[in-house]
Amino acid sequence: MKFFIDTANLAQIKEAQDLGVLDGVTTNPSLMAKEGIKGQDNILKHYVDICNIVDGDVSAEVISTDFDGMVKEGEALAELHPQIVVKVPMIKDGVKAIKYFTEKGIRTNCTLVFSAGQALLAAKAGATYVSPFIGRLDDVSVDGLNLIEEIRLIYDNYGYETQILAASVRHPMHIINCAKIGADVATCPLSAITALLKHPLTDSGLAQFLADAKK
Ligand code: E4P
Repeated sequence: MKFFIDTANLAQIKEAQDLGVLDGVTTNPSLMAKEGIKGQDNILKHYVDICNIVDGDVSAEVISTDFDGMVKEGEALAELHPQIVVKVPMIKDGVKAIKYFTEKGIRTNCTLVFSAGQALLAAKAGATYVSPFIGRLDDVSVDGLNLIEEIRLIYDNYGYETQILAASVRHPMHIINCAKIGADVATCPLSAITALLKHPLTDSGLAQFLADAKK
């Protein structure tokens, strides 16, 4: 399973990249705003800065909601850097835009996916990635992991090549369960990735080995 980091914070992206397990980055307008990135030029520069840190795909989201606007924005984003994947919302014009980008050879990430039907549409339009938001489903008492299972089954039934990118991941058990189900990618906060490192028996075992090494 690929690990993406879900942030626009350059220091966190660098830390995950340095760990040697990072396969890509996802951003969204809220994550960009959280870093105080404002103005079109600064936003575009920030995407390039991210591409220059990570060795993998970087999702950059359009903010238009009509077909023409999404195409214009997406084409400009794709031209920024070969690692850019254009992130498009799961709405009617978004599906049309994904189909358009697919035919043009521009890679896409269909975002804000909350149902198996939406994921099926994204795959039919040729999305490179589909992003089911598992944490936000859990937040409203719907099992997000069940959605990953449904999408995995549907994609395997028909051989869709769209990669399942589990999004809105909140904790290490989300990552582990996504891996068990067979999600292709999990995009996570840095804290969830580093939490995978931790086990008290590792800490106590290492302390014992170091103590014994001094004897
Ligand atoms: C995915 O690409 C989104 O940026 C993200 O995973 C949303 O996560 P949140 O629900 O924690 O905002």
